[in-house]
Amino acid sequence: MSTATTTPPAVVALKDQHRATWADGNYAAVAEHIIEAPAAAITGAVDVRGRDLLDVATGTGNLALAAARAGARVTGLDLVPELLDVARTRARADGLEIAWTTGDAEALPYDNGQFDVVTSVFGVQFAPRAEIVASELRRVCRPDGRIALVNWTADGLIGRLFSVMGRYMPKPPEFVTPPPRWGEEAFLRELFAGDEVQITRGANPFRFPDLESYMTFFEENYGPTKRAKERLTAEGRWDDLRAELAELYTELNQATDGTLHIESDFFLVSVTPAG
Ligand SMILES: C[S@@+](CC[C@H](N)C(=O)[O-])C[C@H]1O[C@@H](n2cnc3c(N)ncnc32)[C@H](O)[C@@H]1O
Repeated sequence: MSTATTTPPAVVALKDQHRATWADGNYAAVAEHIIEAPAAAITGAVDVRGRDLLDVATGTGNLALAAARAGARVTGLDLVPELLDVARTRARADGLEIAWTTGDAEALPYDNGQFDVVTSVFGVQFAPRAEIVASELRRVCRPDGRIALVNWTADGLIGRLFSVMGRYMPKPPEFVTPPPRWGEEAFLRELFAGDEVQITRGANPFRFPDLESYMTFFEENYGPTKRAKERLTAEGRWDDLRAELAELYTELNQATDGTLHIESDFFLVSVTPAG
């Protein structure tokens, strides 16, 4: 178990806000667009068969399900019980046995060295305090085990989305690590200093009939964008942000037939803890 005994009220308040944000909209629909490439990156790099695997910030369970199909004994943890309900239903429908736990990446409710493999796909990147998260991932991972993370890169689609949105939204508290930092190589090497760290690039395709349907889909279903739209509409600044986002998506769009096709870069970060 984590040794943390008291959590500062500002951290508790921020986590409540995060919980509400990720429960908002329809994250399950968004997750359907990121099912294959991230899970394939992890299961291609780490032999999970027969291993005890923890997927942190599992959401609706994309990686947890893929790992169970590949033969791992899987536990999935997330801050948001509503997302775990979807994950549970998906696992049942596929006849997969997975243990689901509501919990916090900064205070994992597990013993030291309990897991052979600890994963997170676009997950821990959204927890506020990177150093605490990294030390928890290390703590619950067996000394010669593996931590495998898939993080949106800072210079790719989602990293840039969060940087642009960050300029319009209230400044987060000092203790917060902005999500794009988990997509910077130097930051990751410092975070896991002393461990063996390998970083490779991959990409997840987003394909939509056109730019407008892509933008509307995220505004309605993706909690962070949905909440930004609500707040900035009330402040009369949403149109400015939307115009900047349209510019970003147009720059990254590879399609030339009027549809939208963006390859969104991610890092596969493979860490062997020093022990
Ligand atoms: C972008 S979603 C990714 C979900 C999933 N891994 C996937 O690949 O679809 C981010 C997830 O992080 C979870 N999350 C955010 N902060 C967390 C925290 N402190 N502890 C655990 N989960 C957290 C959210 O509830 C959400 O499910």
